[in-house]
Amino acid sequence: MTPITKNRVYVTRELPQRGLNRIKENFDTQIWSEYIPPTKKQLIEKIRDVDAIASNVSDKIDAEVFDAAPKLKIVSQMAVGYDNIDVIEATKRGIYVTNTPDVLTDTTADYAFALILAIARRVVEADKYVRDGKWTIGWHPSFMMGTDVNGATLGIIGAGRIGYAVAKRAKGFNMKIIYNDVSQRLEMEKELDAIYVDLETVFKEADFVSVHVPLLPETRYLVNSDKLSLMKKTSYLINTSRGPVVNEKALYDALVNKKIAGAAIDVFEQEPTPIDNPLLKLDNIVVAPHIASSSYETREKMSEMVADNLITFFKGVTPPNLVNKELKK
Ligand code: GLV
Repeated sequence: MTPITKNRVYVTRELPQRGLNRIKENFDTQIWSEYIPPTKKQLIEKIRDVDAIASNVSDKIDAEVFDAAPKLKIVSQMAVGYDNIDVIEATKRGIYVTNTPDVLTDTTADYAFALILAIARRVVEADKYVRDGKWTIGWHPSFMMGTDVNGATLGIIGAGRIGYAVAKRAKGFNMKIIYNDVSQRLEMEKELDAIYVDLETVFKEADFVSVHVPLLPETRYLVNSDKLSLMKKTSYLINTSRGPVVNEKALYDALVNKKIAGAAIDVFEQEPTPIDNPLLKLDNIVVAPHIASSSYETREKMSEMVADNLITFFKGVTPPNLVNKELKK
C-alpha cells in the first residue's frame, strides 16, 4: 500500500486493526511487532528518523527519546492518561502530545464497577473455591457471605469523566455518592445527588473508595497510610487510575492488619507487577493487569483516535485531543 503522505510514523505496538490500517494508509509506517514492548534502547534506535510516534502507557517518552528523534513533531498516545510522557519537555520542544479521552470512559467505569462487585461479593474467590474442589458441602446459611453494594456509600476521588461514569452506575445500585475533586461538579450533584466532601471525609465515610485521578506530582501516593487509616474496617479501596496514586506498601499493611476489608486494583506501582509482590499473597484483594479500558469496541475506537490525531496534525490542523494546548495552531 502506498501511503498518502511520506511522513514517518513509528507505532510502538501492534494496534487494533481499524486504527492501524488508517495509519498505514496515511503514513510511511513502521511497527514494533513483538508482543513485549521495546526497551528504551530499542525504541531510540527505531525513532531516529520519524516524524511521529504512536505510543502507549508502557513507553517512557522523555528527553532522551526526544533527543534521539530530531524530526519528531507529535506523540499520539493510545490512552487517556499520559504520565509516561514528559509533556513539559515535549512542549518546550514544540512537540505535540495527544491522547484518547471519552471513548474509554464507560468501558473503564464498567470495569471499576466490576471490581467493586468482585471484591464485595467475593466473585474471584468463589470461582477459585469451586475449581479447587473445595465445594464439598452444599448450601449453608452463612457460607461465603459478602458485603452489599446496593445501598452502600460510594466515595469517588477524582470526579472527572470516569469518576462521574462510575457514579452513574452507582446510582442504579441505589448507592449514596460522595466525592472529592479539585472543584465541585454541579452537574453530577444535580443528576446523581452526589455530595461534595473533603478528601478525608471520603475516606472516613465511604464503604467503597474508588480512585479516578490522573497521576501528577500532587496525586502520587495520595492514598497513603494516613488516608487508609481513616477508612472503616468494613470498607474497600478500588483503584483503576494509576498505580503510584496508591502507596502499595501502605495498602499491604492496611490489608494484612485488616484495617480495611479489602481492595481491588487494576494498576500497580510497577507494571507488570513482580510475581513476588506481597499484595498477591493476600486473600482480601482482587487484582487485574491494567485492562480497565480493554474491550474490543473501545480499543478499536482508541486506535482510530490515535490515527485521527496524527492525520489531523499532518493536515496542518490542531489535533482534536491535544494535551499540550499551549501549542495550538
Ligand atoms: C489507560 O490506562 C489509559 O490511561 O487510558
